[in-house]
Amino acid sequence: TLSESIRPRTLDEYIGQETLKDNLRVYIKAASARGEPLEHLIFYGPPGLGKTTLANVIANEMGVAIKVTSGPAVERPGDLAALLTNLQEGDVFFIDEIHRLNHAVEEVLYAAMEDFELDIMIGKGPSARSLRLTLPKFTLIGATTRVGLLSAPLRDRFGILNKLEFYTDAELSRIIQRSARLLGVAVDTDSALAIASRSRATPRIANRLIRRIRDWAQVKNQGVITPAVVDAALQALAIDRLGLDPVDRKILTAIIEKFNGGPVGLDTLAAMTNEDALTLEDVYEPYLLQLGFIDRTPRGRICTSAAYAHLGKPQPDSLNVPG
Ligand code: ADE
Repeated sequence: TLSESIRPRTLDEYIGQETLKDNLRVYIKAASARGEPLEHLIFYGPPGLGKTTLANVIANEMGVAIKVTSGPAVERPGDLAALLTNLQEGDVFFIDEIHRLNHAVEEVLYAAMEDFELDIMIGKGPSARSLRLTLPKFTLIGATTRVGLLSAPLRDRFGILNKLEFYTDAELSRIIQRSARLLGVAVDTDSALAIASRSRATPRIANRLIRRIRDWAQVKNQGVITPAVVDAALQALAIDRLGLDPVDRKILTAIIEKFNGGPVGLDTLAAMTNEDALTLEDVYEPYLLQLGFIDRTPRGRICTSAAYAHLGKPQPDSLNVPG
């Protein structure tokens, strides 16, 4: 697909996450020199920051294959057994949304991760027997938006926990220019920066916007992207100066207008905005927190004065902290 062709294949092609990349280079070099597979590792952080991409990059750098699944897809221990017994020595086994594995599957995974052995039950009732299989040594890479939801025993079995950070506008601008080049469209530095600043610090969004803007430029401006074209396209998409979309603004407006700035609990907020509570928490909140537009308190979410200012709403007296 198109999104595959613009994905980086090596750590050198991968832009941003510099500290993480430096560490990964060390682990990859050390493991390769010892002729061993890489230790199991976890990537965590908000969606769209490149967890899956990094897993693919690592497999490529290690010169091994990658098998991909996700927590909800592995329903029973037998599903896990089928995946694990299909691996080759050294392969990367990638589990997206690993916090959503069920308990029975997790139990089987522990021994597989630690000893590369698989205990499975064959048959049912009195004739049931347990069978122990030796697996090829593999590297488990888990990805999650919520490292806090991982069970302690699972978390403890990963040698390396890695947090992905939001990207700077300069990094996003480089990603946008790289993607534009691979998509065969010209984008000047001012336009790239204009797109970057509205990409919510997230490469997946930057890559989505460049495609929409390319369409817009093609139809309205002979294929030439300029800052004015970026503005017009994003206005048509109802994406504002900071990259907030209608759902972000609906969330902030609900906290301000219906709850007088908060605090309001997540489930109440979800009901008021007609959004799923987990989507609010995993997809929308992280960037609003990063912008400093909302805060989490023990009693719920509150809007900050920066959010009032961005939406052009009068500040309530309680937020007018002097100094
Ligand atoms: N595409 C998506 N994420 C990227 C990144 N971090 N570097 C380069 N291209 C990307």
